[in-house]
Amino acid sequence: MTILSILRYPDKRLHKTAVPVTVFDDRLKKLVADMAETMYDAPGVGLAASQVDEHIQLIVIDVSETQKALQVLINPEIVWMSEEKTVYDEGCLSVPGIYDGVERPSQVKVRALDVNGQPFELHADGLLAVCVQHEMDHLKGIVFVEYLSPLKRNRIKTRMLKEERELQRGGKTGKGGTVAPSARRGNA
Ligand code: NI
Repeated sequence: MTILSILRYPDKRLHKTAVPVTVFDDRLKKLVADMAETMYDAPGVGLAASQVDEHIQLIVIDVSETQKALQVLINPEIVWMSEEKTVYDEGCLSVPGIYDGVERPSQVKVRALDVNGQPFELHADGLLAVCVQHEMDHLKGIVFVEYLSPLKRNRIKTRMLKEERELQRGGKTGKGGTVAPSARRGNA
């Protein structure tokens, strides 16, 4: 398996719209395995194909403590969302080190396909509901910082570009910034 490189905000490729998956072959299974490996290594609780510059509707998620409960959602669609909303401090592997509150429906029901193309439904609440919605936004080209105020977003953009320049000078490791393992739960 391969650790893939994760696009960093404000890379324009994060704003591409992902297309549905139509072919369920070994190449897709390899990408799923590589994305899972990349998510666990980061470490994070979710990763969308868009973040590794593959613009297809594929996300991997694992919100378990043990990191042994991988969920793969292909061509996901939200078929129901609760009226009740929750604010959660979200983080993103494409915006390392930044956490901020985003309000979303507390529960969602999602219809998706598995890696073999078989349909299933997922009723998500808590962190899983946050993560599913965050990752599905990536497939639409939306990064969570776009829900924040323009002032905050610009500040984040400036900080990310500065870090990017430092990375290119070799000042830090290239691995998703400096995220403590305890922060894993917020990163998607
Ligand atoms: Ni993200």
